[in-house]
Amino acid sequence: MIDNYEKAKHILEKYKQSHIIPFIDKADVDIKEKIINQVLRIDFEELKDLYNMTFEDLFVDLEELQPIAGVNPDNMEKEKLQFYTEIGENVIKNNKFAVATMAGGQGTRLGHPRAKGTYKIDFETGSKYLFEIIVDTLKRANKKYNVIIPWYIMTSNENNADTVEFLKEKNYFGYPKEYVYIFEQGKLPLITEQGKLLIGEDGLIKEASNGNGGIFNSMLKQGAISDMEKRGIEWVFIGSVDNILLKYVDVLLLGLTINDGNEIGTRTVLKRNPEEKVGVLCKQNGKIRVIEYTELPKDIAGIKKENGELVFGESHIMCNLFSINAIKRSSTKELEYHIAFKKSDYLTEQGVLVKPEKENAYKFEQFIFDSFKIFNNISILRGKREEDFAPVKNKSGVDSPDTAKKLYENYWKNNKNVIY
Ligand code: UTP
Repeated sequence: MIDNYEKAKHILEKYKQSHIIPFIDKADVDIKEKIINQVLRIDFEELKDLYNMTFEDLFVDLEELQPIAGVNPDNMEKEKLQFYTEIGENVIKNNKFAVATMAGGQGTRLGHPRAKGTYKIDFETGSKYLFEIIVDTLKRANKKYNVIIPWYIMTSNENNADTVEFLKEKNYFGYPKEYVYIFEQGKLPLITEQGKLLIGEDGLIKEASNGNGGIFNSMLKQGAISDMEKRGIEWVFIGSVDNILLKYVDVLLLGLTINDGNEIGTRTVLKRNPEEKVGVLCKQNGKIRVIEYTELPKDIAGIKKENGELVFGESHIMCNLFSINAIKRSSTKELEYHIAFKKSDYLTEQGVLVKPEKENAYKFEQFIFDSFKIFNNISILRGKREEDFAPVKNKSGVDSPDTAKKLYENYWKNNKNVIY
């Protein structure tokens, strides 16, 4: 303990974080030990690089940027649709398919104080939690294909305990427990504009999840990949926790991707207008890229095809299909970090909790779609908003529980005989 204390002190001094030392000195034994362990675990060299990144001008490389178009199933012959569907269904029937839910986000815009999957929506037919809606989809597919699809759930530092407890309390909504694998994603400290660590209300150094792009490395480190391999999984659909129309068991996309000979696939919806806040798929120097709405200049974002659709119009809506090999490749690559500037409560040395009115801390996040850059090709299936995209992001207004609820109810009213 004393050794570790000295080691931690030395590290903090070396990296100009000495303001943390008095917090350690004043803390109770178990908090003291926890902070020391944090200091010994944090990669301060990496943190230094990330901090330096905050001074760099954001450079967006637009050279050789080319749009890519998705395949529209409405323009496909019936036989072709059937052909792809059967390929996808066979993978599922042969127990080679799993799903993963990215549920590590903080859901700050929604303002729900717990893990987002525990958020409940009141439908005309009764209430359902976001996790429950995913279970419904999986159960329907299991019944149809006579299998049990393994379900991997990524949580984070902030919400792991809550998620584990909630799912246990709800008995996994009737899903077989042996088929649910919960794993925690990586985390990184928050730092101030001066590059300083913060101490949170719990007396510990403030850390936050490292973005949904952390999923591959966490799958590797937390044993999810080896669990998939043990089960003979060959394809994994990775989706978000908050799109209540998400087709987790997307047999058509699966069949299309396999038939194309690709390792990754995605279902998109057409970008509504040049201003819509979504990233779009494109190609750059032979690699797949999602370009964020903030990065795409207005004149390029607004270019239209003859039919009026946006040229850069295939929105990435967190539908990610990966072969197991693609997951393995992504898990050993270091994805780039994106910087977010957020409000973060912190304790002063006098023990006063400060709730800042303005953003005060940098958070560093990896995005899942940056893994697309590893690949030369991707299969893109064009979905429809009213069938595929009902996100619960904001408390009210656009992409809120109200809009999602309406989309969900309409979809199920109009599609009584489908299973997803
Ligand atoms: P969002 O980017 O919409 O973030 O996540 P969020 O945390 O849900 O909401 P805000 O931005 O704080 O309001 C898209 C998906 O990625 C997951 C989310 O849980 C959601 O399913 N995610 C996000 C993670 O799993 N980990 C992260 O670190 C961030």
